[in-house]
Amino acid sequence: MNQDQLKQMVGEAARDEVLKLPAGQVLGVGTGSTANYFIDALAPHCDHFAGTVSSSNATTERLLKHGFKVLDPNDVTSLPAYVDGADEINSLGHMIKGGGGALTREKIIASMAKQFICICDSSKQVAVLGNFALPVEIIPLAKGEVMRQLEKLGGVVSLRLAKDTRADLGQTPSQAFVTDNGGWILDVAGLKITDPVRTESLINQIAGVITVGLFAKEKANVLLVSNAAGVERITF
Ligand code: A5P
Repeated sequence: MNQDQLKQMVGEAARDEVLKLPAGQVLGVGTGSTANYFIDALAPHCDHFAGTVSSSNATTERLLKHGFKVLDPNDVTSLPAYVDGADEINSLGHMIKGGGGALTREKIIASMAKQFICICDSSKQVAVLGNFALPVEIIPLAKGEVMRQLEKLGGVVSLRLAKDTRADLGQTPSQAFVTDNGGWILDVAGLKITDPVRTESLINQIAGVITVGLFAKEKANVLLVSNAAGVERITF
C-alpha cells in the first residue's frame, strides 16, 4: 500500500467516525492531503451536518464544490468535532501541524471543538516531536527579531518561500509564502521537543508570533492511524 492509499483509508475511517455524531450539527474540517481524502469520502453525506467550519481557503473551496455549507466560525457556538491531519504526533496526542501553512485557523477551530480527531498514516507517529521542521506563523515585519528568538531555542530557522521560487535554479529566494491571513511562516528545523506544552507556551510569548504549529494545549483527543494492517483508533 502506498501513502496515498493509507491516507484514503484513514479518511474513510474518519467519515465513519463522524457519521456516528447526531445529525444536524456543525463539523470542523482541516487542511491537507489526508483531510482532502476525508472531505471526498464524506461528500455523499454532507446533509448529515448543518454545516462546516473550514481551516483554510483551499478546504473551503473543496467543501463548497462538494455541496457542504461553510459557516463563519463567528456564527458557530457549538462544535462537537474537528477532523484534521498532522505532520507529527507523539504518544500523548501532541502534534506538529502547519506543513500546509494553515496552522492559525487550524488552531482556532481546534480550540472551538469538543474533540480533535487526528487522522494520519503511521509514518507521522514519533517518540519525540521535532524531526519535522516546526512552522511558526509571524507578522512579516517581525521576521528578524522572531528568527533571532527562535534560534535561541537551538533550531535552524528559515523563511518559508512561495513554491514558485526556485532557489535550486539560482533564482533569488525573495518571495515569501503568504498565509491565508497575510502572515509569513518560519520553519524551525533541528528541535527536539521533549516538553511540547512548555515549548508551545515559550514560542507563543515571542512578540510578532501569530501562531506556533505545536498543538500541545489543543492536542488530539482521538487518533485514527492507518498502516498496512488497517486503521487503529487511539484515545488520549
Ligand atoms: C496544514 O497546515 C497541516 O497542518 C496539515 O494538517 C498537515 O500538514 C498534514 O498534511 P497532510 O495530510 O497533507 O500530510
